[in-house]
Order: sequence, then C-alpha cells, then structure tokens
Amino acid sequence: MNLKDEIKIMGLEDIPLIKRGDFLPEIIINALEINGITLEDGDIIVIAQSIISKSNGRIRNIDRINPSEKAIKICKKITPKAKSLGLPEKDPKLVQAILDESKTLIMSEHVLITETKHGFICADAGIDKSNIGDKGFVTLLPKNPDNDAEKIRIGLKRITNKEIAVIISDSFGRAFRVGAIGTAIGVSGINPTLDMRGKKDLYGYELQTTVIGQVDSLAAAAQLVMGESDEGVPLVIIRGYNFEFQEKTTINSILRDREIDLFRKQTYENIIEVLKKRRSYKLGFSTKEVEKEIIEECIEFACWAPSAHNGQFWRYIILGKGILRERLIDKMNDKLRDDLLKDGNSEKSIKIKVEKTRNKFLEAPFLILLCLDDKDLQKYKDTERTQNEFILGIQSISSSATYLLLALEMKKLASCWYCAPLFAKKVIKEVLNLPVSYIPMAFFTVGYPLKTVKAPNRKALKEIIFEPNMYA
Ligand SMILES: Cc1cc2nc3c(=O)[nH]c(=O)nc-3n(C[C@H](O)[C@H](O)[C@H](O)COP(=O)(O)O)c2cc1C
Repeated sequence: MNLKDEIKIMGLEDIPLIKRGDFLPEIIINALEINGITLEDGDIIVIAQSIISKSNGRIRNIDRINPSEKAIKICKKITPKAKSLGLPEKDPKLVQAILDESKTLIMSEHVLITETKHGFICADAGIDKSNIGDKGFVTLLPKNPDNDAEKIRIGLKRITNKEIAVIISDSFGRAFRVGAIGTAIGVSGINPTLDMRGKKDLYGYELQTTVIGQVDSLAAAAQLVMGESDEGVPLVIIRGYNFEFQEKTTINSILRDREIDLFRKQTYENIIEVLKKRRSYKLGFSTKEVEKEIIEECIEFACWAPSAHNGQFWRYIILGKGILRERLIDKMNDKLRDDLLKDGNSEKSIKIKVEKTRNKFLEAPFLILLCLDDKDLQKYKDTERTQNEFILGIQSISSSATYLLLALEMKKLASCWYCAPLFAKKVIKEVLNLPVSYIPMAFFTVGYPLKTVKAPNRKALKEIIFEPNMYA
C-alpha cells in the first residue's frame, strides 16, 4: 500500500459533558492531550453538532412549548401514517419546535422534511432528542455553524499555531436510500466541494461534471468512529486527507440552488411566495436573452385557468422584437396621439406620453398580446344576456392572464399587464391581420428584470371583506 494515500480517522475519548458557555478550543486541546495526539498542519477536526449546540445553549425545553393550531393539525395528519410504519409518534410541542426552526415545511407524511433557516433539507429541522440527557429537552442545530467552525479553527490556531480545518457534522437521513450518514453542516478552512472539472481521469478523459462533496465524505467517514450516539465520541481527527487549505469557506456552497434543484417539490409555501413576489415590472429589462420556448411553456400553464363553461376564450400572440412589432406600436401611437389631441392635451405632453409607451412596448424582449375570441361566446337574443356573456368572457381571459403572470414569475421573468390594446383594437387587428372574432384586450411586456420592485400597499382585509348585517 502506498503510505501517502493513508488516511487516519481518530476518535477522541473521555470528552467531558459540554455545558453552555464552554470554550471548545480548550476542551479540544485537553482531549487531544488525554488521547496522546498532537495537532498537525492539514488535520481536519470533525465535531458533532450536539456539543456545539450545547456550548451555544441551543437547547429547548419541549414541555414549555405551547403548540399552535398548525402544529396540532400536522400532528393529526402524520400520526396515523407514523403509527402504521411503527415509527414513534410526534408530540405537537415537538412539531412546534420543528416549525420554529424551519423556513419551509417541505413534506409532512410519516416524517417531517423541512428546510431549516440555514437552507438544509433534513428531517425535523435537525432537532435531536438523543445525546442530551435531560428528559423533555432537545438540541436545536447551531444558528450559524460556519461561524462556530471558524471560531474553533481560529481558537485552535492561536493555541497550537497549526493550519487545520474544522467540520461540524450532523447525521442526516437521505432521499432514495435507507440509513443516516454524517453530513457537514458547517466548515472552516476547507472547501465543501472539490471541483474536478477539467481534470483528466485514468484514461485521459477530461471530466466535465465531477464535483466531489468532500466535506460530506469526511463527515460520513468520521461518523464511523463517532457512532450514531455521538455523546461518547463527539470529536474526530482526520489525518492524511490531502486538501487545499482555504481561509474563507461556507457550507452554503454545497447547497444546490433552488432553481436547478429537480427534486424540490413545489409546496404551498413556495406557491404563496410566488403569489406575493410577482410584481408589475415597469422598468428596463436585462439584455439576457429570453427563450421563446419558455414563453410558450408559460402560456401552456395559462391555459389551465378556469373559464366560464370551459370556453377557453383566450388567444395569445407572441411578438418578438422586429419590424412587425415596431409597425404595430407606431400605428397604436398614431391612434393614441389622435385621442390625446381630441382630449385637448398640448403637443409637448403628448410627445412625452407617446415616447414613453413606445419605449416600454418596443424595448421588452417579448410583447404578448391577449385577445378574447368572441366566436366561442354563447349567443343570446337579448342585450342583457349578451353583455353578461361578454363579461364572463373577459373574466375568464383575465384569470388566464393571471396564471400567465404567475408562470412567468416562476421562471424568474418579469412582466407587466398593460391595457393599451383596449384603446386600439381596430388598429391592432389590421396590423396583425387577426381573425375577425379576436378582440384585443391586453399586452404583457416580458423579460428578465434588472432590479427588484417594491410591492404597492394592499388594502386591509376589513376593507375588502363586506359583512352583510342580517339584522339591518
Ligand atoms: C387589467 C389590468 C390593467 C393594467 N394596465 C396597466 C397599464 O396600462 N399601465 C400600467 O403601468 N400598469 C397596468 N397594470 C398594472 C397595475 O398597475 C398593477 O398590477 C398594480 O399597480 C399592482 O401592482 P402589482 O401588480 O405589482 O401587485 C394593469 C393591471 C391590470 C390587472
């Protein structure tokens, strides 16, 4: 065996029980001494999350928690499923603690899969009942494990003058495979991933996509020595692993971006986020190219909107940049100019207004026209019902328009709904040579945003929910 490839994994025994406020670098130095180990440059210390949480006071007395309606509801939902699988039942108080530590509840089935405030996807927000001793108490994940790792690395460097790396680990279950393994939740001095792209394999083939999750591999290896009940051996030294020392590192770089995460299920929380994040974007767009296929995908989504007698009266016309769009906007502006003149506006103010709308509609990477197709509306003999049918047609295409805006938001595209086509129906039909039954209703400018837009105020619920007084 080539000795340079040897990696040693050494557990430190006889670690005292950790209390809030304990200075971990000193405890580690004492433990090294007792175990007869001297730190060397390039060593990696893997520390179990439980002792970090204890020294930080990240411990909670579950008995003191008052569970919310939501926690009770979740418990009712998951208990029969957990029971049927022979898993322990969860107390609503524990569920409340889990909710308090989570950004998003991703799944609530027989287990609770959460996204913690740090962005880790794990069961029960990483809350641990084991390795704590006191009944009724649980450990919460450290608030900022990178920070804790950094403090310990720097503390140890001050005492020993050795350049080492620190990994804080926890035991996480995995999607698709049974069995929890050690996983890094905080790092200092070592990059979470080892980028092999551009390097050659044994056969000279250049690696295209290989990125190794080195800190997770190290945490998993360390756990073999720690054991699952990490109270006994919460500190492990890994010696002989060849890594490039890096001063500033963060575990965040190993977390997959939400946008490219294929397995992240759209949850109700995500949907609410999309609903609230969508804004009417009226500023300049980025030069980033918008693919027409994405626009078509969003329009396909918009067809799932409800419509009166499932009439699906919406018709979409996608206008990329080019002569046709320019001609259309010029002709619409001629009409706008005439209307504004008739209203008695000055030449100067008309010029400013016309220029403004011209730029808005011409500069967006895509302009989408929404029409109502009158041909599918039911025909009545009296005016009132004919008018109502027209209104329900408008209501239906408006719901499709809303779906479109939300679909665009999900694709990170900015958009704005403009009513200008309503005022230039005839001109639009002529320039675009639209079928006679099409009634132009709205424009949507679409492109990637350059800035974020602040949400305009919303009315208070009591202003918009009218309570009829039955005794009046
Ligand atoms: C039917 C409709 C027509 C609109 N027409 C215009 C318009 O012509 N010009 C404009 O600047 N914004 C227009 N908007 C966008 C509104 O100004 C915007 O939705 C509103 O201020 C709320 O902002 P938000 O969409 O960011 O929540 C329109 C919105 C709707 C629903």
